[in-house]
Amino acid sequence: MLSFTVSERKLQSSLSIERYIHTMGVVKAADRLAENYGYDRAKARMAALMHDCAKDYPADMKRRFCREFHVDVDEIMLETIDLTHAFLGAEVARREFGVEDEEILGAIKYHTTGKADMTMLEKIVFIADYIEENRKKFDSLDEARKIAFEDIDKAMAYVLKHTIEFVKERGRTLHPLSVEAYEFYKQFEEEK
Ligand SMILES: [Fe+2]
Ligand SMILES: [Fe+2]
Repeated sequence: MLSFTVSERKLQSSLSIERYIHTMGVVKAADRLAENYGYDRAKARMAALMHDCAKDYPADMKRRFCREFHVDVDEIMLETIDLTHAFLGAEVARREFGVEDEEILGAIKYHTTGKADMTMLEKIVFIADYIEENRKKFDSLDEARKIAFEDIDKAMAYVLKHTIEFVKERGRTLHPLSVEAYEFYKQFEEEK
């Protein structure tokens, strides 16, 4: 596997400045979450570093690479082309950056939609993506940042619920994996 530094330099060239700043925020948040939950911090940082590696590819490039790399994206993702960047990103991380760890690849793959019953690393990256320090303020951010370090499953329920609301409010397409994820994680929701 390529060293962290080499991957980082290569990655930097395929990300916009804003995305790079966001990515560094996710790396930091993932590192803190890993420390908090006793998870391998280096692995969490690597997954966070790579999570948006395909996000800034132009739409036609995303479409083409999904086809060429046989990425298992569905019609819903192809219609809302940005949704492909997580599944495609896992494949790019593997092919272009030499990431072989299946757990890291899974965390990249499911960082946008989520899914039912995620691994600790998948949850760390999903939550870190939402709470990272460079995010502009929005309503559910402070609460998410707090719960993230108290109970990661409860944080999953909270973030999924707010993400689903956000997507619906804007009339955007909600992916079935996110619905499945919320159906699973709502069992951890705080009793009101
Ligand atoms: Fe992303
Ligand atoms: Fe991200």
